[in-house]
Amino acid sequence: MAARAPAAHALAWAGALLLWACDGGPPGAQTPTPTPTPDAGPAADAALSAADLRDPALCADCHPDHYRQWSGSMHAYAGVDPVFRALDAKGQAATGGALGDFCVQCHAPVAHRLGLARTAADLDHLPAHLGTITCAWCHQIDAVDGDHNNPLRFADDGVLRAALRDPQPSPHASAYSPLLDRNDPRSSDLCGGCHDIVLPHNALRLEKTFEEWQGSLFSHPERPRFNSCGHCHMKASDGQVAVDGPPRRGHDHAMVGVDVALTPFPERADQRARIQRALDTTLVSEICVVQRRGGAEVEYYLENIGAGHHFPSGAALDRRAWVELRAFADDQPVYVSGAVPEGAPAAEALDADAWRLWDTATDADGAGTHDFWAIEGITRGTLPVIAALDPLDPAYVNPHVLRRYIVASEAPLTRIETQVHLRPIGLEILDDLIATGALAPALRDAIPTFDFAPLVWTPEAAEARLSPIGREALCVPAR
Ligand code: HEC
Ligand code: HEC
Ligand code: HEC
Ligand code: HEC
Ligand code: HEC
Repeated sequence: MAARAPAAHALAWAGALLLWACDGGPPGAQTPTPTPTPDAGPAADAALSAADLRDPALCADCHPDHYRQWSGSMHAYAGVDPVFRALDAKGQAATGGALGDFCVQCHAPVAHRLGLARTAADLDHLPAHLGTITCAWCHQIDAVDGDHNNPLRFADDGVLRAALRDPQPSPHASAYSPLLDRNDPRSSDLCGGCHDIVLPHNALRLEKTFEEWQGSLFSHPERPRFNSCGHCHMKASDGQVAVDGPPRRGHDHAMVGVDVALTPFPERADQRARIQRALDTTLVSEICVVQRRGGAEVEYYLENIGAGHHFPSGAALDRRAWVELRAFADDQPVYVSGAVPEGAPAAEALDADAWRLWDTATDADGAGTHDFWAIEGITRGTLPVIAALDPLDPAYVNPHVLRRYIVASEAPLTRIETQVHLRPIGLEILDDLIATGALAPALRDAIPTFDFAPLVWTPEAAEARLSPIGREALCVPAR
């Protein structure tokens, strides 16, 4: 990859900044403007041009927290991501180049819109900051003309938009935009436009986080039900949003989900800790046991209470989330499902009973595939999102999803241990890309497995009552 050249950039704008810093306002302004209008200054008067603003390193001096958080985000990683690089390369080879700019349009949108890249390989010849999802991209969007495959309009006009209605003077132009205000539902259109993928060859909606959110309770027009993508993914905190600026509420730019950088990258430990914290409050589970002669029927329920879309969502065909369940009678193991040895691909190691929580894509012959360009069908396996509270509402979907396990045992069950596990990417997917030669084998070891809080059933801890499907059972409640 071409080395970035921050030094050259620094030289280009240092003069302008110096000027601005000396006279306290944009060059040309005789006096600093104390209360700028929402459209604080036309870009033409600003010291920094659209071209200057393309390098995130430029923002770090004045917006250090935003820069640090973004630099460890999957948005900063989008164009660098070796799995993205390898899969794009595989797709270009498999389709004789017909895949074209499909992938870079979302993963490296600035380079794509400037006409500098059509494939991931083209990014090798560009400064790194042009080839990923940067500040300059999100903050210069002035319209969203659709709901999938990046329909965002890139103004590239040097006006940095967000939710401040009275931005202080700065060397760049600023403006308020509802598309960058998490309290406005239109802000979800901005995120959602890139977070839904429709395949060009058959119009299949492969990834559909935005569609799921739109159908959920969270898209309700009013708070407290209304929760935009930003309400959950960009938590607010008090402080300053620019060095020496007034007290303001800033918004988190790490935007964690479940995916992690596989190669050395900023903020890695912090990112993993935050993913774990988010996952700890995403699911609740419940176990109800109907003891019978010769064994027991175990009802295991999972409910997605924390995500504003399915669990998992997005690249749900690449995620590997599954349930591990172990039953004991007199401390002897009598049944196990969902045991995956460390380092083994879950898709291959799981038993027939195991509850797999991911989407499965198939090609024209019905064989499993994760090659976008070959996908013809998809079977969903994710947990739904809360869509309506009233079961009589036509939109209602029961979020309390049941899986039954039949356990054979002469002695009554004395203990059941359950736990959900999640790998951001299936190891067999990496193995496949490693086999093409486009992915370094060492990256396989970098995939973490996140463990959810276990739920344990014992007859002593259980309560005798009707299970959610109305059978007399011993239940350890959802938590
Ligand atoms: C020399 C300092 C400086 C630099 C460099 C700088 N900014 Fe700013 N920026 C500010 C100040 C000051 C504000 C106003 C803060 C306030 O009012 O609290 C601001 C405001 C903003 C806003 C809010 C706009 C609004 O109306 O809501 C955004 C977005 C922004 N900057 C993004 C960036 C990005 C992206 C970069 C790098 C490409 C950058 N800034 C570079 C000083 C700077
Ligand atoms: C994926 C899109 C996205 C990227 C990339 C992004 N931002 Fe933002 N940024 C937002 C959104 C959305 C808001 C508005 C949050 C709100 O007020 O609801 C925001 C707000 C801001 C603000 C206003 C203060 C605040 O925290 O609300 C600043 C300053 C800012 N961003 C700077 C940056 C800088 C600097 C970078 C790059 C290092 C960057 N942003 C990258 C989406 C993005
Ligand atoms: C230009 C298209 C684009 C826009 C706009 C965009 N994203 Fe993303 N986002 C991506 C891509 C691409 C990735 C994944 C990069 C990778 O893993 O290689 C991503 C990753 C993420 C992740 C991490 C996913 C994971 O599995 O860990 C979250 C969370 C996220 N985005 C939320 C948002 C929010 C919130 C907004 C709006 C403020 C937003 N995105 C706007 C394209 C976009
Ligand atoms: C009510 C809170 C909430 C809202 C609203 C929300 N998310 Fe999430 N999101 C989460 C939580 C919690 C996770 C982690 C658990 C998970 O993976 O689902 C997550 C995970 C993700 C991921 C990782 C993918 C994965 O495997 O699940 C992406 C991408 C994402 N969100 C994008 C979005 C976008 C885009 C929107 C708006 C259209 C949005 N989110 C709205 C809470 C929310
Ligand atoms: C519509 C925009 C869009 C297009 C087109 C797109 N992606 Fe993505 N990609 C995303 C978003 C958003 C995420 C994050 C979703 C999540 O993490 O759940 C993502 C995540 C990824 C990831 C990391 C997560 C994973 O495990 O899969 C890889 C790798 C990836 N994309 C590769 C590709 C390749 C290769 C192509 C082209 C064949 C492509 N993408 C096309 C938006 C897009």
